Amino acid sequence: MTESASPGPCHFVIFGATGNLAQVKLFPALYHLERAGRLNEDLLFVAIGRRPWDDSRWREHLEEAVRAAAGEAVDETALQRFADRFEYLRGDLNEPATYTELFEVLSRPRMGSCENIVFYLAIRPDDFLPVVNNLDRVGLNRGHGRHRIVVEKPFGRDLESARELNRELHQHFDEEQVFRIDHYLGKETVQNLLVFRLANTLIEPLWNRNFVDHVQITVAEDIGIEDRAGYFDRTGTLRDMVQNHLLQLLASVAMEPPATMDANDRRDEKVKVLRSIRPIPVSRAGDFAVRGQYVAGEGNGARMAAYRDENDVPDSSVTETYVALKLYIDNWRWRGVPFYLRTGKRLARKQSIIAIRFRQPPQQLFRTAIQERIRSNWIYLSLQPDEWMQMELRAKQPGLELETRTVRLNTGFREEGETSLDAYETLLLDVIEGDASLFIRFDEVEESWKVVAPLMEAWSQDSRSLRVYPAGTWGPEEATLLFDSPAHVWRKNLRG
Ligand code: BG6
Repeated sequence: MTESASPGPCHFVIFGATGNLAQVKLFPALYHLERAGRLNEDLLFVAIGRRPWDDSRWREHLEEAVRAAAGEAVDETALQRFADRFEYLRGDLNEPATYTELFEVLSRPRMGSCENIVFYLAIRPDDFLPVVNNLDRVGLNRGHGRHRIVVEKPFGRDLESARELNRELHQHFDEEQVFRIDHYLGKETVQNLLVFRLANTLIEPLWNRNFVDHVQITVAEDIGIEDRAGYFDRTGTLRDMVQNHLLQLLASVAMEPPATMDANDRRDEKVKVLRSIRPIPVSRAGDFAVRGQYVAGEGNGARMAAYRDENDVPDSSVTETYVALKLYIDNWRWRGVPFYLRTGKRLARKQSIIAIRFRQPPQQLFRTAIQERIRSNWIYLSLQPDEWMQMELRAKQPGLELETRTVRLNTGFREEGETSLDAYETLLLDVIEGDASLFIRFDEVEESWKVVAPLMEAWSQDSRSLRVYPAGTWGPEEATLLFDSPAHVWRKNLRG
């Protein structure tokens, strides 16, 4: 816990409890915390959803969600203990009566003296404000407790709407009470980044423009938009992934060592990076970014439909499902080093990697095959599907000649028997414990919107810049045109 930590909550209210996020992420993660003994004995959950369910139907839904995620390995005693903590409240988020009822549930006499409440908004961004205003109407944002409100990304649709949303939120909650979630910060490898750099004297001295040639951040997904067309088609990859997850990864790679590990010190350093990103000129957006949309293709032996043929996507949609971009960080450490970022849906496979390419030695002293000559040292940090690190070094090829080749030092971050945590487990525990280090402060949100704003503006004026790529491939060919040097190539896997 950090200095800002306050006592744990005794109520945890989930809005959108019958939705996809709660089912797929929140309930399994909270159950794991239950099983690990990390939930206070007197913590009660209130699940709010629109479905007309009685207690037993609700319980069935909850248990199904946990079983689907936990597979065979479910601990029945922990699951029953977890389910007993819940109360289901059927209600419409726009109806004041829902909040009056919630107030009554939360006012019931309880053991102990804890008065803190967590409000988790697992709902569409458009519904944030009605919920916050209604909580205020019944006084649920006030009281003696130190309440916390958790909001999912994207925070706003652009800089202006994010500021507006923030102004409204701040009328009811202080900044320290607002936990803006970006689940990428809860991923093990992302948390490992700072440790890897700052706990190893071998690495940190090289982590700058003198030694690093360029950085690549790839977040590739093989899935399409599943049943989220309503949200996704209005949002697109730039807002859904780049403005938040990818820029947070970039800031985590590039930040200076913080003064302490306190939440604000860490976030100060990230925001400095975001603020130092060189603005992309609207008129030259095409030199810095490529956007694409998938057309029909093949993956894992199956035919995959085009984005425009997905359920509920308009035939003429120009929403991007892929973005690649090049950014420069104009500060002392990184000036002149390109950061190439790319992310997309329906790509060849699910893989997220941060790849750092180092500069070449000043002289080629050893005999090396031509194709090997352009090889530099690389460090890869893989976020998913597995968490591992690989270093590529040059070594002598065994034999009579003094020739070199690439050798790879490869290690997982996990020892045998150590289980992998979902990012939401870490983040939900942090919310409960009041540790905001892995949550986004508003100035980070603002700076991130500023970075993508020129692209939003350029693309809204020019639908011809939308490229296409067949589903199941690595995205539009044009993404290679972003590179500063012919020696730069997208790294797709460990070998190539
Ligand atoms: C979410 C996006 O924030 O992240 C989704 O809204 C995306 O579109 C998801 O699929 C990816 O998360 P992960 O953890 O599976 O990489």
